[in-house]
Amino acid sequence: MIRICPSILNANFDDLPNEIMKVAAVSDLLHLDVMDNVFVPNVTFSLEKSIEIIEHSALPVDVHLMVADVDSKAKLYAAPNTASITVHIEACEDPIATLRSIRNTGKRAGLAIKPSTPIDVVEEILSEVDMILVMTVEPGFGGQSFMESMMPKVKIARRWLQQKGFTDTWLQVDGGISLSTIRSAYQAGADTFVAGSAVYKADNPAQMIEELRKEALRRD
Ligand code: DX5
Ligand code: ZN
Repeated sequence: MIRICPSILNANFDDLPNEIMKVAAVSDLLHLDVMDNVFVPNVTFSLEKSIEIIEHSALPVDVHLMVADVDSKAKLYAAPNTASITVHIEACEDPIATLRSIRNTGKRAGLAIKPSTPIDVVEEILSEVDMILVMTVEPGFGGQSFMESMMPKVKIARRWLQQKGFTDTWLQVDGGISLSTIRSAYQAGADTFVAGSAVYKADNPAQMIEELRKEALRRD
């Protein structure tokens, strides 16, 4: 079982409910990229705007926080239609307390690592995490190239989850996922895939999501 999470970073921001509707029937979660121009050199949605998008989304929302001072902010994104909230370990002062503050809201707690962060930092706190996000581009912008060099981290994380019995912990990849890269990430062990430009630059976003799903699961 895999999950496809379209990212609206490259969608038309002026018509988001409609952009989300285009993919709702074939997607699992909507991926919402929140950037503050501090943790990453780009800015997207304020907290208020994020909550508005979440409330009007036809899909449950997977919130990806690329913001500084996230320890106190993470729980504020827990709206009724929020499915998960992911924080970057590089932005946390106290990752365990922050992950617990998310779980206390009843939402799934995600932990993301940038390309330069080793996967080892996740191992000792696996029990606090409902989803590991291995970034496959430098966070900040859509449309970048997939970093195949991140696949060893995905493989290691998959091995830990299997060996340690974390059967309900998801393993997500984000950045550069397309028809030519999703298969590699799936084979490395990812089960949850964010796709931004591949979906919203396609003539038919819903059809692209179905093709991505098929390509990941294709039998050789
Ligand atoms: C990048 C964001 C991604 C981005 C992915 O910082 O976290 O979610 O939208 O876009 P693509 O699929 O175009 O790489
Ligand atoms: Zn993202």
